[in-house]
Amino acid sequence: MNTLDPNYHALVIGASGALGNAFVQALEADPHCRRVVGVSRQSHPGFNLEDASSLTALAHALQAHAPFNLIIDATGALTLEGRGPEKHLGALEAEHLQHAFMVNATGPALLLRHLAPLLPAKGRCVYAKLSARVGSISDNHKGGWYGYRASKAALNMLLQTAAIELARKRPELVVAALQPGTVKSRLSEPFVAAQQATDPARAVTGLLQALDSLAPSGRAHFIDYKGETIPW
Ligand SMILES: NC(=O)c1ccc[n+]([C@@H]2O[C@H](COP(=O)([O-])OP(=O)(O)OC[C@H]3O[C@@H](n4cnc5c(N)ncnc54)[C@H](OP(=O)(O)O)[C@@H]3O)[C@@H](O)[C@H]2O)c1
Repeated sequence: MNTLDPNYHALVIGASGALGNAFVQALEADPHCRRVVGVSRQSHPGFNLEDASSLTALAHALQAHAPFNLIIDATGALTLEGRGPEKHLGALEAEHLQHAFMVNATGPALLLRHLAPLLPAKGRCVYAKLSARVGSISDNHKGGWYGYRASKAALNMLLQTAAIELARKRPELVVAALQPGTVKSRLSEPFVAAQQATDPARAVTGLLQALDSLAPSGRAHFIDYKGETIPW
């Protein structure tokens, strides 16, 4: 990335996923990026979005490598315990909905809470979270996918609210909710034919360019891999 410190440090959360792994690889290949730390459920330190104490412990363990000029949270889930997203109201169940919110909104918000102190106190820095276009309330034309849509919309609100608060102490912080396009991954595989999905590396190249072009505004940005703004 060109707009961060020329020796910037990056942290990728969810490095075991298709997009997370592609972010790690792209950042490792960036001559300006001095160090990339990737963490996942399988890494040491590791974490589970459904276990709040593991998020506190993760942040504590990462303190030794801070500050991070760029933090990307590439976690998320569409299928939970073998169940895909609900297609109609009759499929809604409290536990399944709560699970979607835990993995896609609550866990990522707690991660932001614990990782924000690891951003540099001064200078441009970026906190980006993989969201999804289907989390846009105004762009919802098809319906369906209740829990995934609603948990991503909740995530977007949590990011916007945090962006406003965090800008008071870090006016050069960019907070972004990202839409990667339809990308080949474990998450998309049951719903999209491989030939209709983009390679993760291609999506990540676009997302990093888009992040580079964002100006700190004291508000969160909701953008896609082409750098285009998505309505909330
Ligand atoms: N692929 C697409 O077409 C697409 C489109 C729009 C938005 N997105 C968003 O992009 C993000 C990444 O998706 P992807 O396509 O790269 O999917 P993926 O390959 O399935 O990766 C998902 C990542 O989330 C992690 N994760 C899931 N549940 C977790 C939990 N409870 N605790 C800790 N980590 C957990 C996974 O860890 P494990 O490896 O341990 O399971 C993995 O690292 C998601 O937020 C998704 O909503 C993707």
